[in-house]
Amino acid sequence: MNYQNILASSKNHILTITVNRPDKLNALNKKTIEEIGLAVKSAEADKEVRGIIITGAGPKAFVAGADITEFVNYTADEGKALSAHGHKVFNSIELCSKPVIAAVNGFALGGGCELAMSCHMRVASDNAKFGQPEVNLGLIPGYGGTQRMIQLIGKGKALELQMTAEMITAQQALGLGLVNYVTTPDQLITKCEELLGKIFTKSPKAIASIIRCTDAYYKDGVDGFQTEMDEFGACFRSDDFKEGTSAFLEKRPPDFHRTTNTINTK
Ligand code: COA
Repeated sequence: MNYQNILASSKNHILTITVNRPDKLNALNKKTIEEIGLAVKSAEADKEVRGIIITGAGPKAFVAGADITEFVNYTADEGKALSAHGHKVFNSIELCSKPVIAAVNGFALGGGCELAMSCHMRVASDNAKFGQPEVNLGLIPGYGGTQRMIQLIGKGKALELQMTAEMITAQQALGLGLVNYVTTPDQLITKCEELLGKIFTKSPKAIASIIRCTDAYYKDGVDGFQTEMDEFGACFRSDDFKEGTSAFLEKRPPDFHRTTNTINTK
């Protein structure tokens, strides 16, 4: 697919989505958010893709927020629609059945921090900076940030970061549990690939199931324990369960990608 504002490239079963507006510090305009959504959707449908990395172009920014120039003259209704669109796309990242890792290579501010938080894990380079500076503009986070930040770092620190608009370093983000790992800039993608590589040796059906169970914890009116029982039961119907248990009994590593691997060797 031809994109204007992102790059999408596949290698070793990983789709890397790079937000590509470095002159604007990769600020998210509507088109960019739409393209991220399309790329995630295509990854869901593509059997060759087993995981996704989302990063930003250039040395300075992951994403420096929503594109402020785009919404300066918005009405309340237009603002709400902008937020709803962001929610839809970021939810599709969070609910993606394949693991999604944010490789945070610089500023992750506003919508950029929210984009990172919608991913399943975050790895940051040591020059990364995180923050929710919307209150400086008379705004609040609008792409799920008020909700996901509490989930990741707890209420007190989430309120502090959003109310003060303070930027924090990658090391501080690590201390708060906002990111999983901090690396040097040159090791950032390698660390993401290493994490995905480990996950790729596991049952993709079980991984998708874990994502659904985790999401159930946060869903109003859904009993996450019941979801777990249902998902656990469903695992017993899967080929992955047969492969995993047979491999254990046969004292060999499981090959959960036998179909795709067979196709690859033809
Ligand atoms: N929306 C639109 N444009 C943005 C942007 C955003 N969120 N963030 C950066 N840019 C643009 C700048 O306007 C500038 O464009 P120009 O060269 O045409 O003037 C370019 O990106 C480079 O940014 P600049 O401000 O010159 O870089 P800096 O190193 O001096 O400062 C930041 C970096 C991140 C501190 C600063 O750009 C900033 O505060 N950005 C806005 C962050 C924000 O409020 N995000 C939440 C939005 S809801």
